[in-house]
Amino acid sequence: MQSKRKVKILVVGSGGREHALVWKIRQSELVEVVYAAPGNAGMHTIAECVPIDVMDIEGLVKFAKDRSIDLTVVGPEAPLVAGIADRFQQEGLLLFGPNKSGAQLEGSKVFSKNMMNAAGVPTAKHEVFTEVAQAKEYIIKSEPPFVIKVDGLAAGKGVIIAHSAAEGIEAINGILSGHSFGDAGKRIIIEEYLEGEELSAIVFTDGENVLPLVTSQDHKRAYDHDEGPNTGGMGAVSPSPLVSQDDVAVIVNKAIVPIIREFKHRAITFRGVIYAGLMITKKGPMVLEYNVRFGDPEIQAIIPRLRSDIVPLLFEVALGEITMDSLSWDARPCTAIVMASKGYPNEYEKGAVIEGLEGVNTSEVTVFHAGTKFNQEGKVVTNGGRVLAVSALGDNLKDAQQKAYQAIEKIKCDDLFFRTDIGEKAIRGCEHV
Ligand code: AMP
Ligand code: GLY
Repeated sequence: MQSKRKVKILVVGSGGREHALVWKIRQSELVEVVYAAPGNAGMHTIAECVPIDVMDIEGLVKFAKDRSIDLTVVGPEAPLVAGIADRFQQEGLLLFGPNKSGAQLEGSKVFSKNMMNAAGVPTAKHEVFTEVAQAKEYIIKSEPPFVIKVDGLAAGKGVIIAHSAAEGIEAINGILSGHSFGDAGKRIIIEEYLEGEELSAIVFTDGENVLPLVTSQDHKRAYDHDEGPNTGGMGAVSPSPLVSQDDVAVIVNKAIVPIIREFKHRAITFRGVIYAGLMITKKGPMVLEYNVRFGDPEIQAIIPRLRSDIVPLLFEVALGEITMDSLSWDARPCTAIVMASKGYPNEYEKGAVIEGLEGVNTSEVTVFHAGTKFNQEGKVVTNGGRVLAVSALGDNLKDAQQKAYQAIEKIKCDDLFFRTDIGEKAIRGCEHV
């Protein structure tokens, strides 16, 4: 970013995570324009939304070339796993996100486990299966609960925790037959069940240097008290009370730095974000999985706390030259609560009008849109499973939680539901850990 000319940035995606990125990028004085492909109803006032699907890689390349985009920032994993970074690189276009070989860390749980074992990262013991008979045999001789993971991408739904052999066998039949997850389920992992509290550790890396973000804690289950099915995440708080920022350095050194070293060993340059989903167990932190992009909704609780300009950092990562050694953060905690369509993570309706959005945003509260669009009358309507994330900064976790729930009360839509206990565990300080 040597020149004084303002830059043009394209953000790929349409979720709450991408809204948060657009929101932060737009605040930079270095930026002339932000485009979002395809974006959502919440981004219209701060970005130019262009109707290009996230998987239309050739369409995105053409757009970036035609508009002389200086940097493309990819939100979701699917285009990264499909090789968007490699295509942009071939065209001489700068992109934030790992190439296809690096993105396998999220794209294949088997690859990810191999990386962890090669790098000596603590993780649950596992076995890989492609045949129903062998997987069944393993289940019959083992003790429940069984953690069954689909190898490929499954939009946050590829982990089944079975509490009996019968439940495990049913899941295995569905996955390996191709019914439940198609090709993503050609291979499965069955791994040891870990008990503890979950923590998300997210870092920027240029393949060499590592710059951690503040911690956060996701709420994966659909309903209060961690009941119901796993989702992409129903809310998040930052920071997590489980660990201090000093502990984070230790965790990053154990859980992420060895992976970067292993990538180098395999001649893979990883530039982008590595997000380690961890279980803090009695035996210490263990890695459950890696993602190669920002967490959603974690980032909606992290970005409102970021004081530093994100744009120079995005450029440095993409160029492979992180020079900063720290970021500046707001000390206030943040709580982000997801409002989802009734029925999510299973079947749900779309098209319900959302009222009351005007006037919710304040200096402390921001509504990030995910599955929203404008209907023909120009009203904001639901258009996906996770629809909004309401983020609030507060003097402490309790205050942030209260502000977020007070803001939610102003938003009216009969088709939406939300958890009423986001942040509760963090406020209690996870006393049972
Ligand atoms: P993953 O996509 O691997 O992060 O898994 C999704 C969720 O499943 C995690 O956030 C955990 O809540 C749960 N999970 C995954 N692996 C395990 C495990 N080995 N033991 C217990 N829970 C797990
Ligand atoms: N919130 C979990 C994820 O982004 O994968």
